[in-house]
Amino acid sequence: MEKIGRNDHCWCGSGRKYKVCHMAMDEKIHRYELEGHMVPDRSLLKSKEQIQGIRDSSVINVAVLDAVEKMIGPGITTGQIDDLVHDMTVKMGGFPASLNYEGFPKSVCTSINQVVCHGIPSHEVVLKEGDIVNVDVSTLYKGYFSDSSRMFCIGEVSEEKKKLVQVTKECMELGLTMVKPWNFLGDMAQVVNDHAKENGYSVVVDIGGHGVGLEFHEEPFVSYVTKAGTEMLMVPGMVFTIEPMVNMGTNEIYIDDDDGWTVYTKDGKPSAQWEITVAVTEDGHEVLTW
Ligand code: MF3
Ligand code: CO
Repeated sequence: MEKIGRNDHCWCGSGRKYKVCHMAMDEKIHRYELEGHMVPDRSLLKSKEQIQGIRDSSVINVAVLDAVEKMIGPGITTGQIDDLVHDMTVKMGGFPASLNYEGFPKSVCTSINQVVCHGIPSHEVVLKEGDIVNVDVSTLYKGYFSDSSRMFCIGEVSEEKKKLVQVTKECMELGLTMVKPWNFLGDMAQVVNDHAKENGYSVVVDIGGHGVGLEFHEEPFVSYVTKAGTEMLMVPGMVFTIEPMVNMGTNEIYIDDDDGWTVYTKDGKPSAQWEITVAVTEDGHEVLTW
């Protein structure tokens, strides 16, 4: 890392002297690093301006999900959801980050029942009474990315599925309580995984969350199965997603051979996911999307 003098301008671009800006924090991070912990690179610490950019992007992301919430129900196709997400995002001046992302063909992911994530919307797929569906919206606005997803119960849903949806939401919320400076990502993961397990569920290992903001998917990879005290140190300025995928049965998954995207549970049992984008602040966290 580049050596900066105490009286030089801080690396963060604030224009303040290093000694009154990030110096103390850098030293603290360095002490954790010497103890063998994973620590964020400077490039992962967003400035106030950058966080404002992500906040603005998040306003669109949340508004779009709110609109989905109003229109979704039995008889609606996932293609209609995709149209709404695309048109509303563009109307608000943004662009759907999923569209053409590594070849993904649509503007939103819609994942029904045993689909874990990355379901491709279609005008042929009609939501029916009893389905549970995850709608995952991600937005690019003026160079900044935001990302969130919610579960929706379509009409009357079985108690079993309702509970899966509810417990998965609790997992995310419990994880959030662990987001504050000088905790570890593993502290968050542990409470997520514990709560899922206590309810007889399993958490997907191979797919997780991510840093977000300047890119759609940034470092670090965010696991929800790792142990307290492990994984990356949380530092003010980090922005990442909490998005555990919780399965009613096995956490084993496979990807659709034909479309190359849709992820299913191996045992065909239902899966649920909630996602928020969260920033680590000086004294805790700020939820940017929900
Ligand atoms: N929105 C998903 C996430 O939470 C990523 C979707 S990638 C896509 O990270 F290409 F499938 F859209
Ligand atoms: Co995400």
